[in-house]
Parts: sequence; C-alpha cells; structure tokens
Amino acid sequence: TKQKLWGGRFTGKTDPLMHAFNQSLRYDQRMHAADIRGSIAYAKALARVGILTGEEEVQIVEGLQAVEREWQSGQFVPAPDDEDIHTANERRLTELIGPLGGKLHTGRSRNDQVATDMRLWLLDQVVDVQTSLEGLVRVMVERADKERDILLPGYTHLQRGQPIRWSHLLLSHAFSFKNDLDRLRQLVPRISVLPLGSGALAGNPFAVDREFLARELGFMSLAENSMWGVSDRDFVAEFLMWSSLTMTHMSRLAEDLIVYSTAEFGFVTLSDAYSTGSSIMPQKKNPDSLELLRGKAGRIFGNMAGFLMTLKGLPSTYNKDMQEDKEPLFDTVDTVSASLKIAEGVIATMTVHGDRMRAALTMDMLATDLADYLVRKGVPFRETHHVSGRAVALAEARQCQLDALSVQDFKGLHEKFEDDVVGVFDFEASVERRTAIGVRVEGRWIGRLRCCGLRSLLH
Ligand code: ARG
Repeated sequence: TKQKLWGGRFTGKTDPLMHAFNQSLRYDQRMHAADIRGSIAYAKALARVGILTGEEEVQIVEGLQAVEREWQSGQFVPAPDDEDIHTANERRLTELIGPLGGKLHTGRSRNDQVATDMRLWLLDQVVDVQTSLEGLVRVMVERADKERDILLPGYTHLQRGQPIRWSHLLLSHAFSFKNDLDRLRQLVPRISVLPLGSGALAGNPFAVDREFLARELGFMSLAENSMWGVSDRDFVAEFLMWSSLTMTHMSRLAEDLIVYSTAEFGFVTLSDAYSTGSSIMPQKKNPDSLELLRGKAGRIFGNMAGFLMTLKGLPSTYNKDMQEDKEPLFDTVDTVSASLKIAEGVIATMTVHGDRMRAALTMDMLATDLADYLVRKGVPFRETHHVSGRAVALAEARQCQLDALSVQDFKGLHEKFEDDVVGVFDFEASVERRTAIGVRVEGRWIGRLRCCGLRSLLH
C-alpha cells in the first residue's frame, strides 16, 4: 500500500482539504527538468563517496532519465499522494527501479533540493529573459537610427518644452532597459550559488563533494553556510525586484505611447496586431497592448511586495511558507517574458507620424534658444530669460508666433538683438546646437548601447 514519503511517524490520515492545501505539484511540476538534473548530479556525488555502487549509480541515473522522458512526452502520471515535484519524481523513480530508488535521498532534504531546483530553473529563465530584453532594445535602437530626422515637442510636466528628436526620446527609454540588462547580468552570480549538500539545515554527513556538485550543475559558487543555503530566497526576491523596476520602465514607455496615440496627439498609430476594438463603439481602436504593459507592472510589483511579506517574519532555515515563492516567481517570469515580446512587437510595427510630430512644434518652444542668443552676446542669463519672456508675451498679445515679431520688435526689447536673431527660429538648428554629450544619436550614445551586446547594430 502507498504511503507518504514522510509517513512513518504518522497514524492519522491527512485532512482532504489540507492535502490539497499542501500540494504544490500542479505548479512546481514545471521544474521537473531541474529537479531531475539535481538528482542525477546528487546520485553521482553519492557514488563518489561509496553510498552507491557504480552499478546502483547507473541504475538510478538511467531511472531518472526515464522519468524525465515521461515528463517531456507528457506521459508522466501524477499520483494522488505526490505532494510536490520532488516526491513525484522519487515515487516514479522507485516504481521504475525498485527499492534502490530509496537510496537517492541519502543525506539530502527537500530543503536543499527545492532551493537548488529553484536556482537552476531561474538561471535558465534569466537567459531567455535577457534575450527578449536585448530584442526589445535592438528594435528601439534600429527605429531610432532610421527615424532620427523626425522632430517633435519634448515635454516636461506633459507641457511643451523644447524641440527634440524622436530618436532621442526612444533611446531615453532604451537606456533604462540597457541598465536593466546590466542589472540582470549582475544578478546571475547571486542566483548561481549551490545549496545542494546542505541537508535539511545542519549539513551533509556523508562528505559529498559539493564542489563536484557545483561543477556538474554549472553553479558558479557554493552556499558556504548550510543553514543559509536552505533559508535563502534573496535570489527570488531580487528577481522580483528587478522585474518590478523593469516593468516600471515598461509602464512609463507604454504611457508615453498611449498619450501619443490619442487623436489629440496623433504622433503614433499602433498596428492592428497590437490593438483591439470596442464592443459598442465601432470606430474605436484601443491601445490595449500598451495598457496591459502598464497594468502588468502593478501585478509584478504585487508579486514582489507579497513575497517580501511572506519572508519577513520567518524564523531561520526552511519553513513551509517558502513554498509560496513559486507562484509569484513563475507568474513574474511568464509576465515579464510576454511583456518584453509584446513591447518589441508594438514598437517594431507602430506607425510614427513624423509630419504630425513636426506640426506640433511651435515657435514659443524656442524661447530658451532666444534667451541663449543674448547670452552669446554677453548678456547674463537671468536677464535674457526675462527679455525672452517678454517677447513671448508680446507675441501672445499680438496672437502671432514668436518668429513673426520683427527685428525692430526684438531690438525694442533689448539693444543686443541684431538682424541675425531670425536664425534662432529653426527647430533643426535648435536640436543641433545641443552638442554636449547627452544628445546626439551618433557616437557615444549608440556606442554605449553597442557595449551591451548590440554590436552588430547600425553598421
Ligand atoms: N514543496 C516544498 C517547497 O516548495 C519543498 C520543500 C518541502 N520541505 C519540507 N521540509 N516540507 O518549498
């Protein structure tokens, strides 16, 4: 008759609701490959210290490989008593190879096992997330390069500020993502720390070679304190924090594009592929993709806040509360991965209306340039700011654009104005005048983006 893995000291039966409440297999089965990899490495380590003979090692390893094949072909049949992925795999291994399967868990606990599985699983996911993030940055850089001639109003407080290039704006978002890429890479050494061989908490009494385990599984280092090894979930928290910040950047990008896609702005039009309609208003085309990107940021932040709340009061080492790390982590990986791909698609396919952007530029946005004109003639900026403000007021009173004022008008406002003042009223010239590092698409900006693995871009 079947019994629970830990059934020896029990006489009573588990309450059915408690059984379901405790069971994590329905979501942690997605770590099956990581669990099997960890077990294969552990079987090898046990053989190296003589707990398993060479023959037993081969049988266990082959048995584990057979279990993994069942998972991959969709033939693995969970049993009602499979509590989690670890018990499920061990139960199936023992069915396949007999009582020998019961030797695998020698000196091991699900506590060091689950922490190892989580880290292995997340390390694989990070590679995919990184690739998706690079894809998004690449599309942004490519678009910026192709559309660098387009000018539009740059906003502060969502009020018109100064003319900018569209590429400048797009790359400002790309820069946030580039920093996210850097931060993601910096997470890897802290995820890649091996807990296996820590036992339940007190360490492994069979002298398993943990450096061998780390090499086998590709970990960069070992958990050097076994109690910390089973206790630590900072790598989960950090990934959730990373995701929260990345999705915050995503949300701000989405917000810019949502505003720009309104009829009032008309700067961009989303492709049909990333828009949806209204069930009542036939004319509607809504930027649902962007709104979801903005909305998902809240969900990810919630995953992070919820998980920190789970961790904060826990006593040392393993507590079952920690099983609650999985759903927020899995959901976050899925949501961030999808978000990055959607964002890439939105940006790659949207139409940018350079003419509308251009038409939104007004001459008052050159008032700073007008003040700077007098600065170049030696007038203190505080005074030129005031003079330029009076020019704006004069144009407003006459209901004309700033460049419609005559040279005589300007001379009347300040004696240092000369005929060449008309040269101020040129949007391209305004943008080009900003030659200090921080603006130009050519050169240093792209150079820095290229450093993050986007070398092939633009040349
Ligand atoms: N399913 C558990 C988890 O996800 C595995 C570890 C269980 N350990 C234990 N001592 N009950 O955390």
